[in-house]
Amino acid sequence: MRSSSPSTSLAIVSSRAPGKIIVSGEQFVVLGAPAVAMAVNLYSKIDVRPSQSGQIEVTADIPLHLVSDADKRSSSADNQELLEPLRLAASATLNHLATKDRGVLVDANCEIPIGAGLGSSASTTVATISAVAKSTGTRLDRREIFKLAFIPENFLHGHPSGVDQATCTYGGIIQFRKPSKINAIKVKRPPMILVCDSGVHRSTKALVGSVVKRSRTQADKFQTHLEEITRLSNAVVKALRDEDDIALGSLMNRNHELLRQIGVSTPRLDGLVAAARKTGALGAKLTGAGGGGCIIALCADNKARSSIARGLRREGGTIYNVSLDLQGVQ
Ligand code: PMV
Repeated sequence: MRSSSPSTSLAIVSSRAPGKIIVSGEQFVVLGAPAVAMAVNLYSKIDVRPSQSGQIEVTADIPLHLVSDADKRSSSADNQELLEPLRLAASATLNHLATKDRGVLVDANCEIPIGAGLGSSASTTVATISAVAKSTGTRLDRREIFKLAFIPENFLHGHPSGVDQATCTYGGIIQFRKPSKINAIKVKRPPMILVCDSGVHRSTKALVGSVVKRSRTQADKFQTHLEEITRLSNAVVKALRDEDDIALGSLMNRNHELLRQIGVSTPRLDGLVAAARKTGALGAKLTGAGGGGCIIALCADNKARSSIARGLRREGGTIYNVSLDLQGVQ
């Protein structure tokens, strides 16, 4: 369902979308298992205005501390890896709406660290799709935004499951299964989760590609893992609904172990996970593709959160105190 309001067609319009963390099932979700993910209150904001050039132009303002060293070396925000998905998102939206006028200037502001597994690419692409549609006087519904986001996500990731863009589009906590099963998980009390960035940023495409390859050569082992992750993600949903942090914490620990077994953790991530548990986390795991990026730690209360944050900072991690975003793209 879409709504049109021609009066908005010439104005500068904006959309914003949250980042996300994956509570369970990353990597395995690409192979068909369910994942549980939560939208968090780190945002990207996209402004769209008409452009005289008749072309899609993209600019980005991404704080340098959010960009990896590798991206900085290849000239930071000018990097095509960062901007091309947004151009693709804008072009897919204009094609979808069959708009003749291609002249839009897309300006991205992102407070989500890049390449850290917190959904920077999905967040910026779904916000771009929403804002470009608004600039033509059309409001796309969430299902359309989710579907269109596969175009830039395919470019960036090669084999995206869709969980990132589903979470950034819908907000809240979702259980997701390929290709497009999205169940909202309503909770009375969201889990208190602390995010810690290892500072090592990496390519989701390469990591997912290597797991997909390994799943073909080790089919039996992966079959067993997929069965376990399916049970685990279902148990995560139950623990969230029951507000059972003890169960949730031990499921997160087990999920980390499975990610370690398929080779996507690193000594640095294992070290941060161990430090989080030692300083009081009820459970901890890497979140996202692995290879670097972030870990998440479940905290019993504010006091535990401070002590875990101190422990992780001592290990050189950067802390993001995130909370649940309920709105998704808007
Ligand atoms: O891009 P990341 O690090 O947030 O990873 C997304 C989750 C994966 O399962 C690794 C990939 C996917 O598309 O599901």
